[in-house]
Amino acid sequence: MPKAKITAVAGYVPEKILSNSDLEKIMDTNDEWIRTRTGIVERRVMAEDEAVSHMGEKVVAQILEKSGTAPEEIELLICATCTGDYILPDTANNICYKSGLTKAFGFDINAACSGFVFALYTASQFIQTGRYKKIIVIGGEKMTSYMNYEDRTTSILFGDGGGGVLLEPDEEYGVIDAILKGDGYGCQLLKVEAGGSLYPMNQERLDAKKNFVTQDGRQVFRRAVNGMSSTIKEVMERNNLTADEISWVVPHQANERIINAVGDALDFPKERIMLNIAKYGNTSAGTIPLCLWEYEDQLKKGDNVILTAFGGGFTWGSLYLKWAY
Ligand code: ACO
Repeated sequence: MPKAKITAVAGYVPEKILSNSDLEKIMDTNDEWIRTRTGIVERRVMAEDEAVSHMGEKVVAQILEKSGTAPEEIELLICATCTGDYILPDTANNICYKSGLTKAFGFDINAACSGFVFALYTASQFIQTGRYKKIIVIGGEKMTSYMNYEDRTTSILFGDGGGGVLLEPDEEYGVIDAILKGDGYGCQLLKVEAGGSLYPMNQERLDAKKNFVTQDGRQVFRRAVNGMSSTIKEVMERNNLTADEISWVVPHQANERIINAVGDALDFPKERIMLNIAKYGNTSAGTIPLCLWEYEDQLKKGDNVILTAFGGGFTWGSLYLKWAY
């Protein structure tokens, strides 16, 4: 069976910066608290008339240019997002339309912060069948549109942006294994309450600010550390990998303390754990492709790479791949 190898990476963040000191001006917080508790210094904010499809369009354009691929060669585009342009329709097909991917079909995957890992593994199955040769996987969000800037416990964490990869078949390199998990218990601990079919939006719910993300930060923190480190261990064991053989761990960027705790649990050196949360905060499904994009020059052909994520749902998992270039 062919493997799905990554042959190009792209990323996009909007220009507008929302720094910790900007937040100090609008809520009772301070730069020192945010830095020491989360590792975040600033995050990016999309313009009002910009959304996930605009980000996706820019990511696709970069991928096509970098890889010398014609738009009509792309057969499938999967977009991992929980903040798509609309509730209906999906965002993936809109990205295909805007990018001239005339031969592609698309669909979205909503696994919150684990979305990119879930989407990448899903896409890899299409390649493994031998039927599909060129698939784009995008992960990205406009999280700021779901932030209540009166809630200092959550709004300081999130930002906008994302990235994507091109997948093509290969005998040797690419996605080798993944362990994906879920637990609907998390449904009540991290959510946007209103705007879906259970609680459609109305004035009362808007006034009660039910259209924003709320969470139990402490429980999420504990579950995230445990979920990411346990699935990394599992995927390493299943593939007979020692920590020395892993070139890079690419963790979802939720909180630098979560990332450090995962590194400590695995006794894994910090220098081989990708980290850019200081600049972008938590972009949910966008964090892992943004890391790959920023660290692309440091990745080498044959590197053993483990992607790991935890998010709303709860959803979590770890994916093992061999870097192809
Ligand atoms: N500025 C200043 N003080 C604050 C702020 C803030 N922005 N937010 C909370 N505080 C205060 C609290 O009110 C509390 O004060 P008190 O002791 O007087 O009651 C104090 O700081 C400590 O609050 P805690 O909630 O215990 O702080 P904690 O160290 O747990 O950090 C945080 C909170 C950052 C939310 C952390 O729990 C966390 O990162 N959790 C994970 C959440 C997450 O990442 N969610 C994203 C989605 S899921 C994912 O991506 C994995």
